[in-house]
Amino acid sequence: MNRIAVVPGSFDPITLGHLDVIERAAHIFDELHVLVVHNPGKTALLPIAQRVTLIERAIADAGISGSIRVTSWSVGLLVDYCTEVGASVLVKGVRSQVDVAYETPMAIVNRNLAGVETVFLLPDPAHAHVSSSLVRQVASLGGDIAPYVPRAVADLLQKPRQ
Ligand code: PNS
Repeated sequence: MNRIAVVPGSFDPITLGHLDVIERAAHIFDELHVLVVHNPGKTALLPIAQRVTLIERAIADAGISGSIRVTSWSVGLLVDYCTEVGASVLVKGVRSQVDVAYETPMAIVNRNLAGVETVFLLPDPAHAHVSSSLVRQVASLGGDIAPYVPRAVADLLQKPRQ
């Protein structure tokens, strides 16, 4: 059986924490779809297409192997995408109890809607404090984001210090 999993998220921008989850999920499942989804609850920094490109670059630069497709979805429920491509599992990284509380209702709703299960992966402790919102804030104020993001993201967002 070809087990397809989806790693969904805003990825605005992708962080080293996301990349760690993608790499580990790629080793667990036969096929992985990294899916950029617009989150209406968040103010976007990067256009969706640019987020997709950065994820592709980050995966290539890190030499992550496996059957991985990076794409986006904007026309309906996340589980509609899963049904369309035959994915039975969602993969989410959970850094804390706050993440678990945020993710749990979505996991239950997605299972009720379409029988899609959610698998939670614990982050590598090195990335447990990293979030896209933190990266956006540090970058906007001219701080060094290189320890938290793939090279392609740092090159794009890092503003030279005055
Ligand atoms: O990286 P984020 O912002 O925490 O990702 C959240 C995301 C995009 C995965 C979540 O908002 C989502 O699943 N959106 C799709 C809309 C949907 O299907 N909603 C109903 C089930 S939760």
